[in-house]
Amino acid sequence: MTFLSAPAEPPTRCRLNAARNPAVPAREPCKATQYNRRMMPQVPQTPPAEIVPQPIRKGIDVSINDKHYRHTGDPDLPLLWYLRDVLRLTGCKYACDDESCGACSVLVNGKLKRACMLAMQDLADQHITTVEGLVDSDGKLHPVQQAWIDEDAILCGYCQSGQIMAAVALLARKPQPSDADIDSIGNLCRCGSYPRIRRAIQRAAKTMQGKAK
Ligand code: FES
Ligand code: FES
Repeated sequence: MTFLSAPAEPPTRCRLNAARNPAVPAREPCKATQYNRRMMPQVPQTPPAEIVPQPIRKGIDVSINDKHYRHTGDPDLPLLWYLRDVLRLTGCKYACDDESCGACSVLVNGKLKRACMLAMQDLADQHITTVEGLVDSDGKLHPVQQAWIDEDAILCGYCQSGQIMAAVALLARKPQPSDADIDSIGNLCRCGSYPRIRRAIQRAAKTMQGKAK
């Protein structure tokens, strides 16, 4: 069988190679190259010097229980909902939503705060501790948490993580609080567990003497 083949074309060189091999005649860009150039007109490139590096994602950086987080959503989002809905730290509770009950209490830089009243945009670079963050890295409960168990302070439990955070803040300020100091905490308990809370704080104070967390 005989195959007919097209007559051999003289070798050609691309224009980029012309300087290197002047003996070979230049050729036009092939059809595909011409098509691509028509469909994708050349856009002037930004000179490298004009490129301003941007952070990959802008957001609000916070430290929560010694872990770093970046909030990239609504800056007005209350901390309460960031903790509960985004991080699933549900120890912090929603109740009054007007700063009066303390069920949502957390520590911000060691100070007792109401998470329902704090917007994420006001917390950039702040250190937040929730009731979950009181536990040691080896799983040991904070003395206040342990005292709550030992004194059986919890009734329905809804207010208790806020009560514990308030007790931690109080003991940081007053390692040996009086009953009046404890009663001045101001967190509400609808179950009336105040006498149990008072006993638990006094027990925790004794346990913590000389070994603050
Ligand atoms: S829910 Fe925040 S103080 Fe009551
Ligand atoms: S234990 Fe029920 S609200 Fe405090």
